[in-house]
Amino acid sequence: MSPVVQKALSRIESLGRVSDSPSHLVRTFLSSANLRAARLVLGWMEELGMETSHAADGTIRGVFPGTTEETRPLLLGSHLDTVIDAGRYDGALGIIAALAALETMVESGGAPAFPVHVLGFSDEEGIRFQTTYLGSRPLAAPLDAASLAATDADGITLAEAIAREGWHEGAVPIRYEPGSLLGYVELHIEQGRVLEEEGLAACAVTAIAGQSRLRVSLTGRADHAGTTPMPLRRDALCGAAECILAAESLARETPPLVVTVGRIEVHPGASNSVPQSALFTIDLRHPDDAARTDALTRLEHRMRSIATNRGLSLQWMPVQDGNAVVCDPALTSRLLDAAESVTGTRLGLASGAGHDAVALSAICPVGMIFVRCRGGLSHHPDEHASPEDIAAGIGVLARFLQSPLC
Ligand code: GLV
Ligand code: MN
Ligand code: MN
Repeated sequence: MSPVVQKALSRIESLGRVSDSPSHLVRTFLSSANLRAARLVLGWMEELGMETSHAADGTIRGVFPGTTEETRPLLLGSHLDTVIDAGRYDGALGIIAALAALETMVESGGAPAFPVHVLGFSDEEGIRFQTTYLGSRPLAAPLDAASLAATDADGITLAEAIAREGWHEGAVPIRYEPGSLLGYVELHIEQGRVLEEEGLAACAVTAIAGQSRLRVSLTGRADHAGTTPMPLRRDALCGAAECILAAESLARETPPLVVTVGRIEVHPGASNSVPQSALFTIDLRHPDDAARTDALTRLEHRMRSIATNRGLSLQWMPVQDGNAVVCDPALTSRLLDAAESVTGTRLGLASGAGHDAVALSAICPVGMIFVRCRGGLSHHPDEHASPEDIAAGIGVLARFLQSPLC
């Protein structure tokens, strides 16, 4: 294993220890651990001689100069935030691999022809505000009023969170104009099982599925658990349970649609009270935008009729809609060349997971590299990519950086 790869592996371990909880890995938007992770990575960027900066929302950047007249940078990177009880590779690997690919070039006496900016985004997962890409979207345009008004579980709006908890000292806006970039390339673990089945360490990505996130609230009536006969109840949690199973059935009936309810809150939340209200999240994804919209309409219809039959009122609250993104054919062709030179195979995969590349596609061509992860497991503490596969991924990225992009 080369010293560059060994350093990358030890950085994955170090970053994996930066958490808001002593018992598991969690770093959500603007948390103390998220900002500590940002500072740690800025230090690594400085070791590589990069000029560094950070935005008030906790997104960081390191700038590496190019060797030619080309001034348009290539952006590399991924996200610093994690889900709750996360693995160490989702997001972190993309930032660490970008630094390792640059180091690989430097070690062999080379440097990229164009400037390379490495980004660490403060939010991709959308855990705190249920709205994704908070770190990467501002690179293209200021966050819109609806996003800034989104609230977290404590009722704090995103605008208030940035104003009160942001990293303001020395902050600069990190923004790019459309047409000012060569592109954005992100290396990420696959989070699926195809590479494992194909026996391949890494590959290029062709497209990223669209996703919608919503909240649904059901309201009935709180009642005494001992004295209220079943036919008289308007139990919001039972209604939510039926709605959630309806969502599961719809997804099972219409592959490759996937629907997930990952969070539910119940009020009043007492074991001897009939639940008055239930609020749950929906994450709904499909690679085809028309099919995703159609599924949303059908799901709303099914849930509304369940609510009506149970005497419940239902509020359907869209939070975010993201269209599917096709990776840039020219960048992807270079990435396929680079992957083929390392793995011997030219494979392009579509991504079911969301990535910061979606947000960057608003202003520049995007491409991605996937690295095999064990059992396809992700959003789980046992998430794992082998040292050999990480080395292969770094090799693909380093090879890609030698491409004549300009
Ligand atoms: C990000 O990991 C997502 O796809 O939810
Ligand atoms: Mn993730
Ligand atoms: Mn990710």
